[in-house]
Amino acid sequence: MASTAWQGIIHRYRQRLPVTEATPVVTLLEGNTPLIRVDNLVREIGGDFVLYLKYEATNPTCSFKDRGMTLAVSKAKERGAQVVICASTGNTSASAAAYAARANLKCVVLLPHGKIALGKMAQSLMYGATTIAIEGNFDVALRIVRELGETGQVEVVNSVNPVRIEGQKTAAFEICDQLGRAPDFHFLPVGNAGNITAYWRGYREYHAAGISDRLPKMWGWQAAGAAPIVDGQPVEHPQTVATAIRIGNPASWQGALAAVRESSGRIDKVSDEEILNAYRLVARTEGVFVEPACAAPLAGLIRSVRAGQIPAGSVVTATMTGHGLKDPDTAIAQAEFKPTVVPATMEAVRRVMGLG
Ligand code: F0G
Repeated sequence: MASTAWQGIIHRYRQRLPVTEATPVVTLLEGNTPLIRVDNLVREIGGDFVLYLKYEATNPTCSFKDRGMTLAVSKAKERGAQVVICASTGNTSASAAAYAARANLKCVVLLPHGKIALGKMAQSLMYGATTIAIEGNFDVALRIVRELGETGQVEVVNSVNPVRIEGQKTAAFEICDQLGRAPDFHFLPVGNAGNITAYWRGYREYHAAGISDRLPKMWGWQAAGAAPIVDGQPVEHPQTVATAIRIGNPASWQGALAAVRESSGRIDKVSDEEILNAYRLVARTEGVFVEPACAAPLAGLIRSVRAGQIPAGSVVTATMTGHGLKDPDTAIAQAEFKPTVVPATMEAVRRVMGLG
């Protein structure tokens, strides 16, 4: 009997990816993530539409980055690279470190000092990457990494490496495969803008191949303090609670603009307060715990619904890019609840429960 076990995105979508028989597949069985219908959240928001969350937190390193990284590290291995390197706000570095470990490659990550969520830092250290915290933001780190890449001594696995985008487009394929169609709208957070570029490519490819019968409108969301694409100019000192998307000069700026223009979509920004409200809401109403960046498109959806911009009967998908446990500090600070400490007696527990 042939195994039907999931074998990762390269295996599943091989004919749509730049791999050959000679490519050594470095996989941690990424992809095949849940598409969760969230009716409680829609009821809370109000409006007549169906919402599905593409929950990328179930990937091996708990973010969508693994889709691009399986391909980037496989291709690096195929070319005989010894060292992979990236700049990161924490998720790319976690993913690069894991896949490099799997491939027996050395990994170096450059992170903005003091602006990395705790879980992401733990990942890169545990996977054994050389972890460098630079006294500067992501944009500066990426500039250094690109310069190092030009020496030819290291393989850059940021999304400036085109195969990263190729791997990430498989999330759009999966959504179409899971829904049996493409959505009417796709919402997602935008930082370095690789993912919006990748999804749009995936949706277009499936449409061109006749597998899906429509193209979604792509709606990207930046954090108000880090919204260069929305504001039309680089932000020198980006600031937001959503550290994953704390980026002032996105590498795939043009890709994001093309996705929005070609899909008749939109790119806009939401405040940290809106982000944190949506962050709590999706956890409480649906049991879906995401990191703050994922709440940007949800906050954007709340706003769009209130503005009457989502027609009745629409099918909307939104990417939840990373797991809530990545950033326990923000979760604990924002949860609005604290554990109630009581003596270890039934009576004390009953009192807290309101049972007298
Ligand atoms: N959501 C999360 C959780 C992310 O980590 C990122 C980007 C994004 C959204 C935005 O995706 O950059 O393709 O527009 N994180 C990168 C990193 C920058 O280094 O981990 P994007």
